[in-house]
Amino acid sequence: MTAPAILPSVAGLRDAVSIWRAGGLPVALVPTMGALHEGHLALVHAARAHGGRTVVSLFVNPTQFAPGEDFALYPRDEADDLAKLAAAGVDAVFMPPTEAVYPPGFATTVTVDGVSAGLEGAARPHFFAGVATVVTKLLLQCLPDVALFGEKDYQQLIVVRRLVADLDIPCRIEAVPTVRAADGLALSSRNAYLSADERRIAPRLFQVLSGMAAALAGGAAAADQIADGTATLEAAGFTRIDYLAVCDAETLEAVDRVSGPARVLAAAWLGETRLIDNVPVSPAGRAG
Ligand code: PAJ
Repeated sequence: MTAPAILPSVAGLRDAVSIWRAGGLPVALVPTMGALHEGHLALVHAARAHGGRTVVSLFVNPTQFAPGEDFALYPRDEADDLAKLAAAGVDAVFMPPTEAVYPPGFATTVTVDGVSAGLEGAARPHFFAGVATVVTKLLLQCLPDVALFGEKDYQQLIVVRRLVADLDIPCRIEAVPTVRAADGLALSSRNAYLSADERRIAPRLFQVLSGMAAALAGGAAAADQIADGTATLEAAGFTRIDYLAVCDAETLEAVDRVSGPARVLAAAWLGETRLIDNVPVSPAGRAG
């Protein structure tokens, strides 16, 4: 196991990538905010499957947190992250200081209309401008052949696909299915915030979404499923539901009844912790 190169500067990242590329090796980028778990590592494994070089970025991006959100408290454990990435066979870790990403005078924001507007965008108005800006920068800094994103953050994946297409960024975006605990809870750095009682309730979110997806695939009306799902989550102990929605899998527009690939998406609170999750709905005989 060779330790990955630690690259704190954009110039260093570009040098490494251009050497690999000159050697004919494809480059895969996995953007993360650290606090790595098996979900992130699934992206790394998928990146390595491309057979070239793998870069992971570790950067807790301040612009995607609103004032009052958990930026200062966001879990950070650099030594543990680097050990996991070394064990996973990553070639380089891009860890820029905040000033390298947002130097004095920084004044540009990337906003993606349409697919950013609802769901997370409605609940967290700062969020997607921060994500779109930093992802655009990371893609342009590294210029990978492929960048990998998790379906766990499904709307983020759709927003990234949109900006890459709209801005002609020459990079393929690959989606990786959500990695879950044995009881179904989607792995997330924020699960560390859950109390023991909350952790017991948390898998209900995935169960409710899965039940809704099965009913919707069988032709049930979205409005009925959303009403039932909301009641079930509240009865289970979720303290607030930001959204529970049935959307077209590409446009993220709400659908009344599923006739093509769709997604059930939710954000719900257990006390102070906000969980998000989503599952595919595949109408009979079609892939979702
Ligand atoms: P972060 O939350 O660290 O997630 C990094 C990547 O890991 C994202 O693509 C996310 O969807 C994926 N991921 C997280 N949990 C997962 C799970 N259980 N299964 C599969 N994939 C999972 O998402 C971000 O960081 C940031 O917004 C970022 C894109 C890095 C921009 O700052």
